[in-house]
Amino acid sequence: MADTVTSRLSGFHKLPMADRLGTVSTMFRLSIEEQNAIGGEKSLTFDMANTMIENAIGVFGLPLGLGLNLQVNGRDYVVPMAVEEPSVIAAVSFAAKIVREGGGFIAEADDPVMIGQVQVTNYGDPTVAAHKLVEHKEQLLALANSFHPSMLTRGGGARDIEVRVLPAPEGPRGEPLLIVHLLIDTQEAMGANLINTMAEGVAPLVEQITGGKVYLRILSNLADRRLARSTCRIPVTALADFDMSGEAIAEGIVQASRFASADPYRAATHNKGIMNGIDAMAIATGQDWRAIEAGAHAFAARDGQYRPLSTWTLEEGHLVGRIELPLALGTVGGPIKIHPQVQAALKMLRVTSARELSTVMASVGLSQNFAAVRALGSVGIQKGHMAMHARCVAVTAGARGLMIEQVANGLVQAGQVKVEKAREILALLTREAGAQEAP
Ligand code: MEV
Repeated sequence: MADTVTSRLSGFHKLPMADRLGTVSTMFRLSIEEQNAIGGEKSLTFDMANTMIENAIGVFGLPLGLGLNLQVNGRDYVVPMAVEEPSVIAAVSFAAKIVREGGGFIAEADDPVMIGQVQVTNYGDPTVAAHKLVEHKEQLLALANSFHPSMLTRGGGARDIEVRVLPAPEGPRGEPLLIVHLLIDTQEAMGANLINTMAEGVAPLVEQITGGKVYLRILSNLADRRLARSTCRIPVTALADFDMSGEAIAEGIVQASRFASADPYRAATHNKGIMNGIDAMAIATGQDWRAIEAGAHAFAARDGQYRPLSTWTLEEGHLVGRIELPLALGTVGGPIKIHPQVQAALKMLRVTSARELSTVMASVGLSQNFAAVRALGSVGIQKGHMAMHARCVAVTAGARGLMIEQVANGLVQAGQVKVEKAREILALLTREAGAQEAP
């Protein structure tokens, strides 16, 4: 059956908030409960919050918006994003629109294989100990899998081990480190609990095999067996804007990419832009965004220099963007089954697997990055930011409803985005409105 969902919702941002929710509720057949959850009326309750964390005293809110226009592997995705920073959602939607006109994103993700680490000490000769561990691989895997047999039935579970002998870090103690990696396919889960259970579970056997003592047993957030990649190809001619040619805009983007590749100071900011989109989507879909952040930055530094997670090159008249990063995501576990907004967000996103979720998230990261480097390499980002900032200033000055936009426009036109100026404009507009209403 043809897909009736489109992420190309022209004029969506101009609708009143209730109508926006109405539009997506119809499109995704959201129940009244789901609509109430999204609208914040029936979101996370105090009781739920109290079961999730310690010392809970309430529930914290963030704006929830939708990234539009995204097309990945020929499928449309409306992307729920929870974020406090203005321009993030506008940027992702804008970029995704340009990319979709060039054919959309092509993305893929590896099998969901995570790493559980077991640190062995007092093992004697490291080569002998490493050899013994490899010899007992099947026994170690069988023991690991015995802690989660259902994962094995679902096609996942511990698949392999790796034994690493690492040079001693600087300091008085010279012995190398012996680290066992359990490679675990976590299927639809991000997998932290499963991995930690398995890592702790095999520790006594590791001690028995090596005669050593195990200390740490924990997953690694450098989830580099679980990478997601996305690519887009935009015809250079489609980039023309701001009275600039497509070639000139493309050149600015390629220069931004070169800058980030050569300089960790720039790469950090470049990647921050990518994470603007990824974190917002991760929060809305109930992912462990700290784990994603840790994995992304460790991966960015994998060759010893901190590098950008995405690159932009010119290839045969096209600007080609590529992103690759670890994405340890889940469609089960964590807050997913508890948090009503997360459930509604996942329903709108319509992904059927954690792998699919990763392909969408990587594409959101690349969209975000495209929007940033396109602006940075041409007119700068302050122009776009100022409009959003002006709205916040207008609200701070007391503007409400339709007045917000009018005051914000006045601020931008005056070239002074300040609360004092906003109060002045607001007073003027209020007087004018009063005069019009007067008989
Ligand atoms: C701001 O939140 C993100 C940017 O700084 C990203 C970048 O510089 O690429 C605009």
